[in-house]
Amino acid sequence: MMRSVVLARRPQGNPVEADFALSEAPLPTVTEGTFLTRNDFISLDAGFRNWMNEDSGDEVLPAMALNEPVMGLVLAEVIESQHVDYQVGDKLMARFSWQTHTLSDGTDFIARLPDTLEFNPSAYMGVLGDTGMSAYFGMTDIAKPTEQDCVLISGAGGAVGTIAGQIAKLCGARVVGIVGSQAKADWLCNTLGYDAAVLRTGDASLSDAIQAACPDGVDVFFDNVGGQTLEAAITNMNHRGRLVLCGAISGYGVTPHGPGNLFELITKELSVEGFMTHFRHERYDEARDQLSTWLREGALQSPEHRLVGIENVGKAFADLFAGENFGKTIVEL
Ligand SMILES: NC(=O)c1ccc[n+]([C@@H]2O[C@H](COP(=O)([O-])OP(=O)(O)OC[C@H]3O[C@@H](n4cnc5c(N)ncnc54)[C@H](OP(=O)(O)O)[C@@H]3O)[C@@H](O)[C@H]2O)c1
Repeated sequence: MMRSVVLARRPQGNPVEADFALSEAPLPTVTEGTFLTRNDFISLDAGFRNWMNEDSGDEVLPAMALNEPVMGLVLAEVIESQHVDYQVGDKLMARFSWQTHTLSDGTDFIARLPDTLEFNPSAYMGVLGDTGMSAYFGMTDIAKPTEQDCVLISGAGGAVGTIAGQIAKLCGARVVGIVGSQAKADWLCNTLGYDAAVLRTGDASLSDAIQAACPDGVDVFFDNVGGQTLEAAITNMNHRGRLVLCGAISGYGVTPHGPGNLFELITKELSVEGFMTHFRHERYDEARDQLSTWLREGALQSPEHRLVGIENVGKAFADLFAGENFGKTIVEL
């Protein structure tokens, strides 16, 4: 049987487990030009919340349909094929759906993995997958931190943030993370080598809390959150600082808060650059090689928030928005 997680209703604000439901169907038949995969891991990525609202289709993806499998990234292995480009045993990281199996004609977004995996397979969804690569491209292409820089990262204890912070440390920068709980703040500093952490839920205003943790100002802000967090970071930026916009989870599926202090981009001569990792598809091998080297050397850790079983995929997705995850959120099927 093929088991799927479907979008049972459109989330109102932050997604909750009840927005999703399980469905079952017989395994699809492989026909000429198609192949069937067994999906071993599902990666939970906050950005997919953007396409769950009814009118949310854009140039990147269409809006998700109700009662249809939810789009997401999976780690898959081809188990049957009548497609010239895909052989049984091929390992893929693909934008399929939250399903135990996928029938594909090869037109989905697919990145091939090596035949022999050097690391734990789930790493190819996290530190060696889309999120690790987002941290890599955002830090090495855009932020380019140096030993003189104070780097501030929002969503610092999540999938992208944990890797981005460690890369900035490898570049010699002082690194400060913004997180939602004291337990995560302690973990960032004691386990991942962050120099300091800022609680977004503390008594002080976020801007004051950032100032206390970054007394000499912020040179690089790597943003996963947007909204009020971005606004508070702009207030603390140094002259000619760099803002790297990776994500804006605080505004996914809800009306986003626009920063009210954009004039400071001018007065402080700040540079702002957003990026989408999938537009750097042709450089995945380069990114994976560098991240693999750091993993091999023990210079990089890849923490995971791992759940087991397709029935837990909806909960795992909701966990991202509730801040339950320490590191990459993944479900093993
Ligand atoms: N540009 C790209 O190509 C690309 C690729 C992949 C991901 N991304 C983006 O990277 C970001 C991280 O994604 P992810 O999937 O890896 O998730 P994640 O960072 O593993 O988890 C999201 C974290 O964000 C924090 N958070 C949740 N809701 C928040 C809110 N309303 N305000 C402030 N913080 C909130 C929570 O941490 P705390 O509670 O500890 O704050 C949560 O753990 C997302 O914005 C995503 O869209 C971008």
